[in-house]
Amino acid sequence: MINYKRGVLVVIASVIAQSYVTTAALSAGHEPSMVGHEPPTAEAPDTRVVADFPEPIKQAMLQRMRRNLTDIQRIQAALGEGNFDQAAEVAEFSLGVSSLGPHNARQAPYMPSAMKELGMTMHKASSQLALVAQTGDMQESVRELAKVTGYCVACHASYRAK
Ligand code: HEC
Repeated sequence: MINYKRGVLVVIASVIAQSYVTTAALSAGHEPSMVGHEPPTAEAPDTRVVADFPEPIKQAMLQRMRRNLTDIQRIQAALGEGNFDQAAEVAEFSLGVSSLGPHNARQAPYMPSAMKELGMTMHKASSQLALVAQTGDMQESVRELAKVTGYCVACHASYRAK
């Protein structure tokens, strides 16, 4: 009797879970089959193109990447405080076109040209964010920030370091 009840509960729970997953999938614009218990990437084959950097350049690149993430966090924190000038400063001088330096020139020869372009587009988008942030428009600033992080996501989806 107890086992039977438990079985019913499990069935009900799984029906609820399934309908939740389906609803979430549909509202996200995906086919339900793309949503499982694991994130889709966990089982998907890794089709990213490999950029074969020499080890010291790879380490410098990854260090710069970690700084990129710090920059995004600093921009978000500044926007959260309503400090548009601070957000613009980080967006231009730490992540934007003004931040380009010798490390970019050292990495460039090892990157496929589309990857290089994506990197440059990301830096330019950050400079654009700096301009928009200075107008003090929160919604536009967040929109521009999402474009910047969109380029982070796009590159990570397509490329990896050997
Ligand atoms: C032009 C391509 C490109 C862009 C744009 C890019 N990344 Fe990366 N990023 C990489 C690659 C390649 C790796 C190494 C991934 C791998 O080998 O699995 C990486 C790794 C990282 C890592 C891991 C660092 C570590 O120590 O392992 C972080 C964090 C990161 N990126 C943050 C960002 C953020 C934040 C942005 C946007 C502001 C960004 N990246 C934009 C290519 C890019």
